Amino acid sequence: MHLLSVDDLSPADIDTLFRLSDGFLEVASRPIKKVPTLRGRTQINMFFEASTRTLTSFELAGKRLSADVVNIKASGSSVSKGESLKDTILTLESYRPDIIVMRHHQVGACRMAARYTTARVVNAGDGAGEHPTQCLLDLYSLRRTYGRLEGLKVAIVGDVLRSRVARSNVFGFRKMGIDVRLVGPPTLIPPGIEHWGVPVYHDLEALDEVDVVYVLRMQLERAKGKVPPVPSLREYSRLWGLSPRRLRPDQRVMHPGPINRGVEITGDLADSDRSLILHQVESGLAVRMAILYHVLAPHPQAA
Ligand code: NCD
Repeated sequence: MHLLSVDDLSPADIDTLFRLSDGFLEVASRPIKKVPTLRGRTQINMFFEASTRTLTSFELAGKRLSADVVNIKASGSSVSKGESLKDTILTLESYRPDIIVMRHHQVGACRMAARYTTARVVNAGDGAGEHPTQCLLDLYSLRRTYGRLEGLKVAIVGDVLRSRVARSNVFGFRKMGIDVRLVGPPTLIPPGIEHWGVPVYHDLEALDEVDVVYVLRMQLERAKGKVPPVPSLREYSRLWGLSPRRLRPDQRVMHPGPINRGVEITGDLADSDRSLILHQVESGLAVRMAILYHVLAPHPQAA
């Protein structure tokens, strides 16, 4: 199977992934953090957009499973000479890769790539489209923290408009029985939001009833050449930035990273014991090992 969208997974698939992740989390605690599971398999990570966490964790995940892992970045590859995505994929296909993990600035690019390769394609973020593996690692982090997902209340706050994480997380969180709401200024809420099936609030008071506040990054790099959706970052951080005094002591905060300290979240909240940010990163490695295993498994349900 490919993993292009959270829609590709049923709640039972997600439970299977979490059982596998529990095992891989244990592997990460060993002195020798390597298992032979994907020995002889080839994994190509194609990243046409910047990444620290996602690329590092997919690379480490593949290596800890003993796969042969190759990283390709747009700068430094023939993409920078004008090669099309189709030609890049067809070229790589000659090497018979088993898995292609791909990040691209265009919505739907991973789905298109899947048409030209026999490898399993994993979407590591396509423009403002989807980021299913972020959703899975966030769910896993929540499950590790609370011991359950069903009935948790989560508010996703901020730049929903340009966030692929918001889209995947709304759909994936709802699938697992989480009560989700979106919170942000009207200019950062995308058109068609009524089809997402979750309530939208334009007031931080909507955070009062939730267990977890999931803060989104201000996606400044997607604003180039467009009218900015907020008048200034200073005003945004004053009105919408999350600080410890905006939350109750028992509420937890999450963020996909990279954080803009002092914009959508203050440094002291990000560094506090209420923050799950580094816990999410740790969960990400185990979950991505589970994903690599799962997409290649011949009988996913039996994995
Ligand atoms: C996210 C992304 O790239 O979509 N980052 C990530 O994968 N950890 C979120 C973001 O960039 O804001």
